[in-house]
Amino acid sequence: MLVAPSILSADFGRLAEDVKAVCDGGCDLVHVDVMDGHFVPNLTIGPVVVDAVAKAATKPLDIHLMVENNSFFVDLFAPLNPEFISFHIEEEKHPHRLIQKIRSLGIRPSIVLNPHTLPESVEFLLEDLDMVLLMSVNPGFGGQKFIPSVIEKVQRLKALIEKRNPDCLIEVDGGVNDVNVKQLAAAGVDVVVAGSYVYKHPKGVKEAIASLK
Ligand code: DX5
Ligand code: ZN
Repeated sequence: MLVAPSILSADFGRLAEDVKAVCDGGCDLVHVDVMDGHFVPNLTIGPVVVDAVAKAATKPLDIHLMVENNSFFVDLFAPLNPEFISFHIEEEKHPHRLIQKIRSLGIRPSIVLNPHTLPESVEFLLEDLDMVLLMSVNPGFGGQKFIPSVIEKVQRLKALIEKRNPDCLIEVDGGVNDVNVKQLAAAGVDVVVAGSYVYKHPKGVKEAIASLK
């Protein structure tokens, strides 16, 4: 299991140290939640702060856009050379065009689905995607409760991926812990995002990451 700690649960007063801690602690990606106060009822960070995150990180960035005007935000973050940019299909009229744009910038494209969005909505995009991110909470906040129906959704998506593009990864984001990660792994998940579980673990971030792996 690849692990992508979400810095949303980090201490923003010592952000560089908290980013370094998860990288030294064995994470695979650093998950960055970008919220615009429009697509979701919360506001987070822009390219100035994410640039500081990129400088502190020794692992690739996994940028999760929760915004209106996806294309504008792709242009803002592309110069920071993230590994992945994920955008919500619910907020994009031309997802195929945006996938092509992200790839043309040398970034791996990924689409995010909210809890209600059907896995079949990405079926005919899969051959052009490197990852699909399934939300297991409503986007906008860390520390929410895991929605168990995502397990069945992973199974349905996995079947589509095996048919259309077996190289495409499945990532799950929201309420992930050391218990539900086992069900997620069995269903075919490749990458888990974890914010509060990693940053608030009583034994520290390294133990938390190891327990998810
Ligand atoms: C929610 C974000 C998540 C969140 C995960 O909108 O996309 O990445 O920070 O936090 P936890 O693991 O605490 O649910
Ligand atoms: Zn996220």
